[in-house]
Amino acid sequence: MISPVLILFSTFLCHAATAGRTCPKPDDLPFATVVPLKTSYDPGEQIVYSCKPGYVSRGGMRRFTCPLTGMWPINTLRCVPRVCPFAGILENGIVRYTTFEYPNNISFSCNPGFYLNGTSSSKCTEEGKWSPDIPVCARITCPPPPIPKFALFKDYRPTAGNNSLYQDTVVFKCLPYFAMTGNDTIMCTELGNWTQLPKCQEVKCPFPSRPDNGFVNYPAKPVLLYKDKATFGCHDTYKLDGPEEVECTKTGTWSSLPTCKASCKLSIKKATVLYQGLRVKIQEQFKNGMMHGDTVHFYCKNKEKKCSYTEAAHCIDGTIEIPKCFKEHSSLAFWKTDASDVAPC
Ligand SMILES: *[C@@H]1O[C@H](CO)[C@@H](O)[C@H](O)[C@H]1NC(C)=O
Ligand SMILES: *[C@@H]1O[C@H](CO)[C@@H](O)[C@H](O)[C@H]1NC(C)=O
Ligand SMILES: *[C@@H]1O[C@H](CO)[C@@H](O)[C@H](O)[C@H]1NC(C)=O
Ligand SMILES: *[C@@H]1O[C@H](CO)[C@@H](O)[C@H](O)[C@H]1NC(C)=O
Ligand SMILES: *[C@@H]1O[C@H](CO)[C@@H](O)[C@H](O)[C@H]1NC(C)=O
Repeated sequence: MISPVLILFSTFLCHAATAGRTCPKPDDLPFATVVPLKTSYDPGEQIVYSCKPGYVSRGGMRRFTCPLTGMWPINTLRCVPRVCPFAGILENGIVRYTTFEYPNNISFSCNPGFYLNGTSSSKCTEEGKWSPDIPVCARITCPPPPIPKFALFKDYRPTAGNNSLYQDTVVFKCLPYFAMTGNDTIMCTELGNWTQLPKCQEVKCPFPSRPDNGFVNYPAKPVLLYKDKATFGCHDTYKLDGPEEVECTKTGTWSSLPTCKASCKLSIKKATVLYQGLRVKIQEQFKNGMMHGDTVHFYCKNKEKKCSYTEAAHCIDGTIEIPKCFKEHSSLAFWKTDASDVAPC
C-alpha cells in the first residue's frame, strides 16, 4: 500500500528532476542587448546576445540555452566598436582625434595659407564611415584685384595662374596729379578677398600769395594740383625764411609758405668780431648790413681777470641786440687796448 504522503513527495521529486533549476537574469555585456530579457528562464529556454548598432561581436557564442543546472555557460562574447578608415593625416592641415572608433568625432584645421573645404569635424558612424566626408585643405587664393579709379598697378604679379595666393601683395600708384588716400599696398586675406583699396583723388592747391618784399613763381595753369611746385625768392636785402621750393600736398595746402625777413642795420661803427669762426671787421664784412639769420660773436673784457670772452648776437628780421658787455671805443681813445686783442679767458 502506498501512502498518499509518499505519492505527493515523489511527484514533487519527479517534477524537480524534469524541470531542473531556473536560470537567473543573464550577465550584462557591454554594448550588447539580450533577447528575450527576463529575470528568470526555465531550463531549455534560449537567449540571443546581439551587439548594439556601431559595435561588432568578437569571439564566442551569441546564442545560449538555459541548462538544467540553472547556470548560464561562461560567455566569452565581446562587442567592440566599429573602426572607421584611418583619417589621421590631412594634407596641409591637422587632424585632432583620440581614436577612429564609433562614436568618436575627429576635428580638422588647415595650415596658414589654406582653408577647410568641407566640415571642421566628422563623426565615425554606426556603419563605420566618416560623416560628413573628410574635408580637404585648399589653397587660399584671391581673384585679380580691382583697380581703383585714377590708379595704376605699380607692382602686381599673380602667383597662382591668374590669381594671387594668401598674403600676396599688390601696390598701386595714382595717375600724375592725383593724390592717394589709404594704403598703396593691398594684401590677399585668409577670406580670399583683398584688403581695402586705396583711393586716388584730384587735389587742388590755392595760388600761393607773394610774400612781402619777395616774389613767387608757379606754373602758368588754370589750377594748381597735387605735386605742382612753386618757388619763392626775396628782394635784395631780404632773406627767405623757409624752403625756396614748395609743393602742393595731398591736403590741398602748400608744403610750406616761406616769408622774407629783413636784414639788420648796425648801430656800431667799428668792431672786430668772430664770424663763422674768423676774426673780421664788422664795418667791412657787413657794409650793407647783416642778413637775417646771421650770427656774430662780440669780444668783451673781463676787467678782474684781464682777459677776453665772446658773446653772440643774432640778426632776426631786422633787429640785432648788441651784447651789453661790448664797449665800442671812440676812435680818439687810441691808447686803449681793444677786447679782441686781449688774451682769451
Ligand atoms: C560629435 O560632434 C557632434 C556635433 O559637434 C556632437 O553633437 C557629438 O556629441 C559629438 N560626439 C562625440 C562622441 O564627441
Ligand atoms: C571643395 O569641395 C567641393 C566638394 O567636395 C569640390 O567640388 C571643390 O572642387 C573643392 N574646391 C577646392 C578648391 O578644392
Ligand atoms: C587667365 O585669364 C585669361 C584671360 O581672362 C584666360 O585666357 C586664361 O585662360 C587664364 N589663365 C588661367 C590659368 O586661368
Ligand atoms: C599697408 O598695408 C601693408 C600690407 O597690408 C602693411 O604691411 C602696411 O603696414 C600698411 N601700411 C600702412 C601705413 O598702414
Ligand atoms: C572680405 O570678405 C568678408 C566675408 O565675405 C567680408 O566680411 C569682408 O568685409 C571682406 N573684406 C573686404 C576688405 O572687402
